[in-house]
Amino acid sequence: MTIQWFPGHMTRARRQIQEKLKQIDAVIELLDARVPHSSRNPMIDEILRGKPRLVLLNKADLADQRATDRWIAAFREDGLDSLAVDAAGGQGIKEISARVKKLVAPQWERMAARGVVKPRAVRVLIVGIPNVGKSTLINRLAGRSVAATGDRPGVTKGQQWIKVGGEMELLDTPGILWPKFDDQTVGMRLAVIGSIREEILNLEEIAFFAVKTLAGKYWDAFVERFGLEGGPPEDPDDPGQIVDVLERIGRKRGCLVSGGRVDLEKASGVLLRDLRSGKLGRITLEEPEEFR
Ligand code: G4P
Repeated sequence: MTIQWFPGHMTRARRQIQEKLKQIDAVIELLDARVPHSSRNPMIDEILRGKPRLVLLNKADLADQRATDRWIAAFREDGLDSLAVDAAGGQGIKEISARVKKLVAPQWERMAARGVVKPRAVRVLIVGIPNVGKSTLINRLAGRSVAATGDRPGVTKGQQWIKVGGEMELLDTPGILWPKFDDQTVGMRLAVIGSIREEILNLEEIAFFAVKTLAGKYWDAFVERFGLEGGPPEDPDDPGQIVDVLERIGRKRGCLVSGGRVDLEKASGVLLRDLRSGKLGRITLEEPEEFR
């Protein structure tokens, strides 16, 4: 389910997370490895108020591995521990507990020296924007189905602690954050990966954006998946060349209307479906260098 966010929603979501922060030792900030910047909440540092945090790049199975490695290095440069995972497939999940424990170790050691804390499981809250994989991760860590996928901001339900091994306890309700809506590029990137409800968006516009930003860098993937002949757009700022790629995809896939013209909407649907499911290959839409 996709939700619409209004200022009231944001205030409530923020308050709910800050309420939960009182009960927890560390936060797992979940991002989409294909768009680590765009899937990030713009106010996250302020909301978390210095809580120890592990950044997880989820859906790493769909992302370009080299780009993911660069993102992890960039987060580390910013003093944030970061790890690539695939909550759906299980990759990287075993490592999470140890990383979280390490995050709180310095603080706990100081407190233990003063006799304040007894050894116990580290209490953790997962936060992230809709569709980033929060419920999938919670269920994966729990080893069973405890979290319903889909989000509803502002709806509270009774929360429970889920034991993860002997070392971690997880709140079963994640903290739901919002992306940077006012940034057009952020919106388009989230639309490309399928994180924003489709009915309210123009399929062709999203596909156009996808070709414009990805065809140059991932042209080999386009050729391999769709059997395209000819080269990538020489000038990505020339709309005609971008539409030409969509038409070539459409022709290869038989997306035609009477008169032999390409049905651009259908071709856009084909491209986006293949891109989102990983059939086009492992693709990342933004690199850390763009934001430095
Ligand atoms: P949320 O709680 O943050 O809103 O996200 P949720 O877990 O509902 O996950 C959103 C979608 O992303 C789900 O797909 C889920 O299967 C998929 N997903 C989560 N983690 C990963 C991952 O690491 N890799 C891949 N490839 N996909 C992931 P869906 O199509 O909405 O549902 P379904 O097809 O699983 O039924």
